[in-house]
Amino acid sequence: MKIGPLTVEQGVLLAPMEDVTDPAFRLICKRLGADIVYTEFISSEGLIRDARRSLDKLLITDEERPVAIQIFGGHIPTMVEAAVLAEQAAPDFLDINCGCWVKNVVARNAGAALLKDPPQMVAMAKALVEAVDLPVTLKTRLGWDKNSIVIVELAQRLEDAGIAALCIHCRTREMGHNGDANWEWISKVKAAVSMPVILNGDIKTPEDARRAFEETGCDAVMVGRGAISNPFIFRQIKSYLSSGVHEEPPSAEERIETLIDHLRLSLELKGYQRGIREFRKFYSGYLKGLHCASTARGDLVHYDSFDAIEERLRQFQVFLAAYEHEQQARESVLAMA
Ligand SMILES: Cc1cc2nc3c(=O)[nH]c(=O)nc-3n(C[C@H](O)[C@H](O)[C@H](O)COP(=O)(O)O)c2cc1C
Repeated sequence: MKIGPLTVEQGVLLAPMEDVTDPAFRLICKRLGADIVYTEFISSEGLIRDARRSLDKLLITDEERPVAIQIFGGHIPTMVEAAVLAEQAAPDFLDINCGCWVKNVVARNAGAALLKDPPQMVAMAKALVEAVDLPVTLKTRLGWDKNSIVIVELAQRLEDAGIAALCIHCRTREMGHNGDANWEWISKVKAAVSMPVILNGDIKTPEDARRAFEETGCDAVMVGRGAISNPFIFRQIKSYLSSGVHEEPPSAEERIETLIDHLRLSLELKGYQRGIREFRKFYSGYLKGLHCASTARGDLVHYDSFDAIEERLRQFQVFLAAYEHEQQARESVLAMA
């Protein structure tokens, strides 16, 4: 797939996720194989008001490239102004959020609200394409609800408006994050447009990704929640797509080392206290399935110093190694019996 000068084959992309895809998480996913990463969505109103939190979200680093900045809003002139500001942060492309289902976004005629007014969505896309030099892409859903699926015709009109690629979260706004993503619409959109189409929704395993490419002809897949609980998923998918063989799951050692690297990055990029506080949501993903993980996690979420967290994790590593040793000894006794 080509987005402006960028070429990515069978891309596996990290989805934009508020409070999740901050620079530290994007870097980790990039190191683990994500082909393109996206920022959290950024309010166009916040950006042009100079709101601190929105400006902070423009921080990107060279190591994470290619990276897209995603913005949202319901007012076209404000979105244009915000796009021009976001362009100065020099991402590889800009993405328009037309899929967010949450009430306070929809109430501002932004995000998925634009699915109720396709001409407004198309006009917004056209205005941004004309306002910036960077490629502009758009992420949306199938339609507002199951009785108003508009994606095929909408995709054609968005392509005419000049967007460089379309990402489709294969649910309606009414579904939120519930129910199964319906990938069947992707092949219909692919037959109707020539721009790249990115499939999003329910890619949780390497098999899901392969099935998505094979069944729909999509140009790339985008992973959201699957990456929060398992950032190794990018590497796992790519290895499976290229060899057809599953790579070994990451060892406990690698999971804990990656957790510590991620936490370090979080502190560097966000500041000490905020970095620790906002990291808490990641413990369960890194430790999931390890023996007595819930006890370790229960401790970790209460610590507010890096040294205490690292020490607890090192203790946990020693505990896991001893447990594994004990298991192996038990197995050899059983084998001899
Ligand atoms: C915590 C969270 C935050 C999200 N924030 C955004 C966002 O900022 N922009 C966006 O386009 N989608 C956002 N989404 C939606 C995801 O990008 C994605 O479309 C959705 O999770 C479906 O993909 P999945 O089934 O792989 O999770 C968010 C989803 C989650 C779970």
